[in-house]
Amino acid sequence: MNKNIESLVKEGIKKISPYVPGRPIEELHRAYGLDIERIVKLASNENPLGASPKAVEAIKRCAEKIYRYPEGSGYYLKKKISDLMKYPENNIILGSGSSEIISLTMETFINPGEEVIYPTPSFLIYKILALKIGASPVEVPLKEDFSYDLDMFLKKITSRTRVIILCNPNNPTGNIIYDDQLAHFMKQVPDNVIIIADEAYREYVEADNFGTAYPYLSKKNVIVARTFSKIYGLAGLRIGYGIARREIIGFLERIRPPFNTTLTAQEAALAALDDEQHVIKSILNNSEGKHFLSSGLERLGIKCFPTEANFILCRFKENAADIIKKLEKRGIIIRSMAGMGPEYARITIGTAEENRLLVENLSEVL
Ligand SMILES: Cc1ncc(COP(=O)(O)O)c(C=O)c1O
Repeated sequence: MNKNIESLVKEGIKKISPYVPGRPIEELHRAYGLDIERIVKLASNENPLGASPKAVEAIKRCAEKIYRYPEGSGYYLKKKISDLMKYPENNIILGSGSSEIISLTMETFINPGEEVIYPTPSFLIYKILALKIGASPVEVPLKEDFSYDLDMFLKKITSRTRVIILCNPNNPTGNIIYDDQLAHFMKQVPDNVIIIADEAYREYVEADNFGTAYPYLSKKNVIVARTFSKIYGLAGLRIGYGIARREIIGFLERIRPPFNTTLTAQEAALAALDDEQHVIKSILNNSEGKHFLSSGLERLGIKCFPTEANFILCRFKENAADIIKKLEKRGIIIRSMAGMGPEYARITIGTAEENRLLVENLSEVL
């Protein structure tokens, strides 16, 4: 038997550093014996208000039916999304989270050795997915103020470029691409490049000149990836969707695993879309929390970068690792962004009470 497994592993996979998620609540409970109910997790950009009560009811109703395979195509959910987005059902695909939509798109269009361009710092999954399929990642740094340098994206396009990913709003920086910026980019980008617009945080955006890629769906080779994990509060169920031209969706459908979204996830998502009040409440909570946290943290000397999402990128005056650890011991989890520099951390906007607890504890820790 060949015991040196590494020698058998594909080259691209060897280059992957595993994704490190926000520290789970249960882990903190095990490490410090803290009461699970009292741990505040502000590390994974989830909806602090939870899912809509209508979605929770739908999940309960599904319990009786889970011995059956789901209808993989998600007919009813796609129909609902189609009605809301005013785009035909055949232009929609469901995924196990929007990350699966991004993954399916990259697998469909990129051959080994071909290039995918994406921003940095951004969602770490892009690099992992690129390396997984043997693609060459081409990273374009954000500008110093974290705004997008879309001209640099255009400059990086070569004959080997197959896909460009735009994360908008960008995680972890919270900034957006504006509509005029996107219009200029779309005019220049060649038609043989597929553009993935990852709009996971779109519903939180307050700026009215946000550059959604939605208007370009019929004009360019664009796929917009959206999720139920954020404002709809269904991260644990794993469901998201992609919208694109019918031909693009047709090819993605060829490699979509037959039962990639569960019955429970589809039913919960349907119910969540019906609860507009919950979405409005979540937007309001986020907007108020954003202002409360930014001013509270700035008062403590922590730099907060402007955000259009449900998280705030912060720069502490000193190394944040020690502060993060101290907060964890007090039952509050935030996310280190040490990859950007030791002083950086990202804080998800919580409920009013969670935000208050964070500021209070931070002021004691500091
Ligand atoms: C930018 C971005 N895109 C996509 C996702 C993934 O969402 P999903 O749970 O739908 O796979 C996240 C999750 O954190 C994200 O930050």
